[in-house]
Amino acid sequence: MSTILDGKKTSEKRLEILKEEIGESGLYPHLATIIVGSDPASQMYVRMKHRACEQVGIGSVGIEMPADATTRTVVDTVRMLNRDAEIDGILVQLPLPAQVDAERVIGAISPEKDVDGYHPENMGHLFLGRPRFSSCTPTGIMTLLAEYKIPIAGARAVVAGRSIDVGRPMAALLLNADATVTICHSRTKDLAEELKRADILVSAIGKPHFITAEMVKPGAVVVDVGINQLDGKLVGDVDFEAVKEIASAITPVPGGVGPMTIATLMENTFRATKERACERVL
Ligand code: GUN
Repeated sequence: MSTILDGKKTSEKRLEILKEEIGESGLYPHLATIIVGSDPASQMYVRMKHRACEQVGIGSVGIEMPADATTRTVVDTVRMLNRDAEIDGILVQLPLPAQVDAERVIGAISPEKDVDGYHPENMGHLFLGRPRFSSCTPTGIMTLLAEYKIPIAGARAVVAGRSIDVGRPMAALLLNADATVTICHSRTKDLAEELKRADILVSAIGKPHFITAEMVKPGAVVVDVGINQLDGKLVGDVDFEAVKEIASAITPVPGGVGPMTIATLMENTFRATKERACERVL
């Protein structure tokens, strides 16, 4: 039986601390979100982010753009927010519709306001081992592992998935924390064998219950980033019921990684606010 890495409880604790810090700072942080189209899951995520802003004392502005918006109009909106002195953080909810060039949109965000950490400049800092803003999901996972005092230095960490928002930055953060890191992906040979070597296994594959108990080393720490629908239920990439019997620690879905992503976004936004305030007095 494993320790449940409770992201809900940990995020609530972090948000309480952040609320106090913001209250004492005399600053009034602002986050702007942009959502293009009306994908229900994206709308729900953005609503949750605005709700968290309200909870901790961050002002938020939500910009909704039509599903047929062009790259130009989205980039222009980002630039308008870059120039807006009131706005400290900008988040463009992904995925964007196919006709919008996500790379150009992300590249247009001022790196100082890139609280998602997706801008190439911030990715570069992260991969150089000096992160400024790093993506919220992997950063939240590192916070959760720290909260439960999971040792990382020297551990064999295996990340399943090589996405820009999770897999790659997750690997960089684990490497920065001195893990020995393997990234697996759809072309990996003998995936099960690679996974089974992990002391820390992070799955961001997006396939319901893909990771079975046979793929997990007894005593491993298992982090499940997947959010999938299975028979009308929200489930992760990991077969939780079976894997929890052999892992030493495991994140549930829901209530694991998801809340940590939002708490990290709030922390990144306050960090952007403080850094911009310092810039103004220098
Ligand atoms: N889509 C799913 N998760 C995220 C996230 O953390 N940030 C952004 N911008 N889009 C997302």
